[in-house]
Amino acid sequence: MRDHYDVAIIGGGIIGHAISYYLNKSGVRAVVIEKGASGSKATKAAAGMLGVHTEHQASDSYHQFCQHSRNLYQDLSKELHALTAIDIGLSPFGMMEIAMNETHKQELLEKKHAFTSLEWLDAEQVRDKVSALPQEVSGALYMSKDGHVEPAATCEALKRAALLHGGDLLENTNVLEITKTEDIFTVQLENASLAASHVVAASGSDSGRWFEAAGMANPIVPVKGECFSIKPGRHYFKEALFFKDFYIVPKPDGRYIVGATSNTGDLSTGTTAGGLADLMHRVFAVFPELKKEPMQEFWSGVRPGSVDGLPIIGEHPAVTGFYFATGHYRNGILLAPATGRMMKDLITKQDVRQDFREMLSPERFEKERSIQL
Ligand code: FAD
Ligand code: GLY
Repeated sequence: MRDHYDVAIIGGGIIGHAISYYLNKSGVRAVVIEKGASGSKATKAAAGMLGVHTEHQASDSYHQFCQHSRNLYQDLSKELHALTAIDIGLSPFGMMEIAMNETHKQELLEKKHAFTSLEWLDAEQVRDKVSALPQEVSGALYMSKDGHVEPAATCEALKRAALLHGGDLLENTNVLEITKTEDIFTVQLENASLAASHVVAASGSDSGRWFEAAGMANPIVPVKGECFSIKPGRHYFKEALFFKDFYIVPKPDGRYIVGATSNTGDLSTGTTAGGLADLMHRVFAVFPELKKEPMQEFWSGVRPGSVDGLPIIGEHPAVTGFYFATGHYRNGILLAPATGRMMKDLITKQDVRQDFREMLSPERFEKERSIQL
């Protein structure tokens, strides 16, 4: 451990490690400080979908940010593999958003109108790809470029690659307090402290305290999600499937991840019988065949949501050098590369697209507050 870093990053989830990777790669010395084990919170719970068209419906700047991040994964997966020998499991098979009734079909056809590169599959074509689906299926939108990755492997690869580029990591180390004297931040740990020229709060659903500590209202909204996985002996489908109220993501090792519940304001840990029962009820209504498959695991995590549903990536409006990179809600795995790149560009004073900067800036909450007053 050095006693002075260019950047201290609070939180070793996928966002913290992605930022550290891009910073250290460009010669900026960054340390990640993680209170437990890296990637053990929301990152570990994620299904890993790169849901550019499933998690967001409008063709706007946020859509472009998502698309940009998904595209970055193509080269990033190769770079990380070359550096660390870790395969992040980037799926080449795409996603299908499936309509089980006429109303949903009309919604998806409207979406196809907005995103002309997506392909419409009629019911027969869908059942050719996924024979276990019932006759009622009405069609699907096929998103050939929106695959998925393995979140734990991606976080681990980013972590190791950042270390190989000269970064540092302190695990099992809680950041207690940040103070600033002149241009230098002091990061207070349990039995030590370190100095940094910049600080990034990338603490997932625990990030709210850093907004409050820096004199802002807490914009973080925790949203708990529960999942389970099955590991059938047979192969059902290759594409990730997205339905109105659940999804199934097939992983290269034969697991099928089924997610997820969504409970706003719930910070509790652990899965509940009711949460899993609710999820299973939705899934088995469509895929009764899966009932007989061996259950593998179940788990939960807390998504770091925000009051307006968008991530918060940028510098504190009044405290120069203090940055936030949080609020990624349902899309932190998708958005890790773009967030890492953007934070590197902000800290090193490179150009960042104006619409991305404004849309994601923490300042938007301050502006809204002054309008309300
Ligand atoms: P985290 O992974 O939670 O990491 C934050 C870290 O900060 C934690 O490790 C924590 O210990 C540490 N920390 C907090 N406070 C301190 C402190 N004081 N000192 C030191 N360390 C601290 N996203 C997708 O893109 N695709 C998906 O398919 C997807 N599926 C999901 C399914 C579920 C069930 C859930 C719950 C989430 C899903 N997500 C998905 C969302 C995604 O998991 C999150 O957006 C992402 O993991 C957020 O990453 P993070 O690094 O900000 O947070
Ligand atoms: N993006 C999937 C989820 O958050 O459940």
